[in-house]
Amino acid sequence: MPASHSAQIIDGRAVAARVKDDVARDAAALRAGGIAPGLAVVLVGDDAPSHVYVKNKITACAQAGIESFEHKLPAATDQKTLLSLIAKLNEDPAVHGILVQLPLPPHIDRDAIIDAINPAKDVDGLHYANAGLLASGRKGLLPCTPQGSMILINEVLPTIRGLTAVVIGSSILCGRPMGQLLLSAHATMIQCHSLTRHLPELCRQADIVVSATGVAGLVRGDWVKPGAVVIDIGIIRLADGKLTGDVAFDEVVGHARAITPVPGGVGPMTIACLLKNTVQAARTAAP
Ligand code: GUN
Repeated sequence: MPASHSAQIIDGRAVAARVKDDVARDAAALRAGGIAPGLAVVLVGDDAPSHVYVKNKITACAQAGIESFEHKLPAATDQKTLLSLIAKLNEDPAVHGILVQLPLPPHIDRDAIIDAINPAKDVDGLHYANAGLLASGRKGLLPCTPQGSMILINEVLPTIRGLTAVVIGSSILCGRPMGQLLLSAHATMIQCHSLTRHLPELCRQADIVVSATGVAGLVRGDWVKPGAVVIDIGIIRLADGKLTGDVAFDEVVGHARAITPVPGGVGPMTIACLLKNTVQAARTAAP
């Protein structure tokens, strides 16, 4: 790319608004048929960003015509109490989706909690049944952030087949399912993480770079092949209160063909896909 090149900035807010419009239409159709889609959101403890995320999720539900049931529990809540709440929500016919906001306090076994959610209500797509369906290339509920990232990639790339993709990160929420989704779309997948050696060289091979590490400015301009598509899943609050991502935006914008900003890129897609999954779960539950 010439020095004057500047990447297309992928407008996650605009794409998310479109997804939300579709969800609102689907939710209205379900309500007209006597089913009010409902999402239960469970938040344990005082993690400040989690409280903001949950508030945004509840607001988005109301805007889309999805009922929400908020369960805020103190940080000292024990595992047994949380498991009995999940059992109750699993049985509640008004609840089609259950989201347990992560991270959980350290005394709670995250995996035991996720395993307790009815996979048909697992709108985070984290239960091993849904993760297994994704890993075997079959249909299930997909994790929201990778699902939203795929929608953004599809906005700028007509096909992913045969392209080389690098995903940095291997978390159950983002990196791992992102790699699975790209593989299912027939990309040649290079899954990287914090122990990966020669990360810049690997990135330079990629037509698609997705970073989900939480390390501010990790992906530098000279890591990016001219014309690559760069998706930034990282969201980090700096000391001055500003939000930033994994990608050194000002550098990469001169190399990439398209890039997601932070904020306003992947973030809005996460909530839009949560609403989409809730409607999908309500539809599947319909008699
Ligand atoms: N914490 C940060 N992102 C997410 C998410 O998408 N789902 C859940 N459950 N917790 C999160």
